[in-house]
Amino acid sequence: MDDNFGAGGVEATGIRKIDAQHERIVALLTDLERRIEDCEAERLREIVAVDIVKGLEYYINTHFETEQVLLDEYHYPEAAAHRAEHSFFVDRVKVMQKKLQEKQGVEQVSKAAVLEAVRFIRDWIVGHISASDIKYARFLKEQGVE
Ligand SMILES: [Fe+2]
Ligand SMILES: [Fe+2]
Repeated sequence: MDDNFGAGGVEATGIRKIDAQHERIVALLTDLERRIEDCEAERLREIVAVDIVKGLEYYINTHFETEQVLLDEYHYPEAAAHRAEHSFFVDRVKVMQKKLQEKQGVEQVSKAAVLEAVRFIRDWIVGHISASDIKYARFLKEQGVE
């Protein structure tokens, strides 16, 4: 296995605090996916409300905030573009959450729909780490951030 990839196939940035948050988020998503696959249909409602809407949102927002503060602090030239990528994703997730919640109001939301949402979130995060986080990490490491 490539040394640059840690648990869960997450590419390491080499910045400790960031890597720890990435691994935590991806591990949460993997765990969530497993729990959705195994759960009874009645429990889906609770998983969407508690884990997807409240739990994930908290970890993802906290992480984005951590990155943005760091990028501003070191005057990363592409900080605004990086922030825009985060906002774009947060908006898409909000739309997805709203759709899931609306659906739940009228019928039983399907496992497939919830799984699709969780996989979309994980794929986006893993892709964003490899494409964009790695880029700012190179810059920050040049500034001596570890
Ligand atoms: Fe990140
Ligand atoms: Fe990021």
